Amino acid sequence: MSDNRIHVSASREYDVVIGSGLLADSGKLVAEAVPKATKLLIVSETNVAPLYMDTVASSLREAGFEVTEYVFEAGEKSKNIDTVAGMWASMAKAGFTRTDAVIALGGGVTGDMAGFAAASFLRGIRVVQIPTSLLAQVDASVGGKTGIDLPEGKNQVGAFHQPSMVIEDTDCLKTLPKDKFTEGMGEVLKYAFIMDTKLYDKLAIYAEDGKAMDLQNDPAALADIVRRCVEDKAEVIAEDEHDTGRRQILNYGHTIGHVIERNSGYTKDHGICVAMGMGIMTDCCYAAGRMDKDTYGKMIGLINSYGLPADDDITPDDAVSGAMNDKKKRGDVISLILVNKIGEAEIVPMTPDEYHDFLTGR
Ligand SMILES: NC(=O)c1ccc[n+]([C@@H]2O[C@H](COP(=O)([O-])OP(=O)(O)OC[C@H]3O[C@@H](n4cnc5c(N)ncnc54)[C@H](O)[C@@H]3O)[C@@H](O)[C@H]2O)c1
Ligand SMILES: [Zn+2]
Repeated sequence: MSDNRIHVSASREYDVVIGSGLLADSGKLVAEAVPKATKLLIVSETNVAPLYMDTVASSLREAGFEVTEYVFEAGEKSKNIDTVAGMWASMAKAGFTRTDAVIALGGGVTGDMAGFAAASFLRGIRVVQIPTSLLAQVDASVGGKTGIDLPEGKNQVGAFHQPSMVIEDTDCLKTLPKDKFTEGMGEVLKYAFIMDTKLYDKLAIYAEDGKAMDLQNDPAALADIVRRCVEDKAEVIAEDEHDTGRRQILNYGHTIGHVIERNSGYTKDHGICVAMGMGIMTDCCYAAGRMDKDTYGKMIGLINSYGLPADDDITPDDAVSGAMNDKKKRGDVISLILVNKIGEAEIVPMTPDEYHDFLTGR
């Protein structure tokens, strides 16, 4: 086991441990994170459990924990109250007390739901996140946002509930389907654009060397990139845990991306829609004279190099009406995140009319 720790300072202080081979050592790490726990519920799903449940469960049992396993049907369609109710029932049956804990083993769907089950059971018990997808390692598992979807919309019910530790074994990314890996790169590029020129440089060199589409098979480079993204997210969270200020920059590409995602009936993956959203914002910034041509070429080029689309034919009317239905808007003002220079994001409030004009310009 080799690992690397990033400390997160939020309402709870915790470490994100990143490394190769960490699953086999999860017992020791969990014992450090939740020393008072005796019972653990491992939440996982039908794709991830066959690959990793045994390794994690054995390590936790060896460390002396009493382990219950809860496996749900993989996919966003399971992210609902019935699945969470199943977790509550398992914990109640096993006689969990307030010092016991939940272990989330899987992608963002698992992490969001297991985190919410922990936030709500007995008014809040501890959770340790073990994210297995790229998107969950660089984004969803860190920062404490948990929740479920409603038929009326995604992530409509939830809670802020910071984990006690996040254990990121980069070896898990080897088994991730290629399209899910590519999707996760959408969020990776987001960090480069909004706040991290060093990450941008690494990704650009990789792309220039023709290795962008091969990143999944380069564990050292990948671990380095995951670590940078987590450091970036930790920095933003430390400043604005509850998403009222700077944390909003993490929504870059998301205002329009969410609308594309919803309008596709969720058939288009989140990270793909975020890439489209970032591409469209780049187009608009260039058209509005906010961005130079060189930056424009670099940003669109990088999105495409990693196998992601940088455009979509969504109309300004659809984009504006969609944004007005989004829970993240404040009053009648849309907080748009713009990047005009790589590594710097700004929050620009726009009225619906201003946003419409901005989009029509491209
Ligand atoms: N809480 C947050 O801050 C936050 C941020 C971003 C996204 N999210 C949420 O995360 C979810 C998306 O996350 P996701 O893309 O990880 O979805 P996911 O959990 O559905 O995982 C994607 C797919 O990859 C599979 N998978 C995961 N890890 C694997 C592995 N190591 N090997 C093989 N297959 C593996 C899963 O079974 C699934 O089919 C959405 O529900 C979204 O709302 C939350
Ligand atoms: Zn996202």
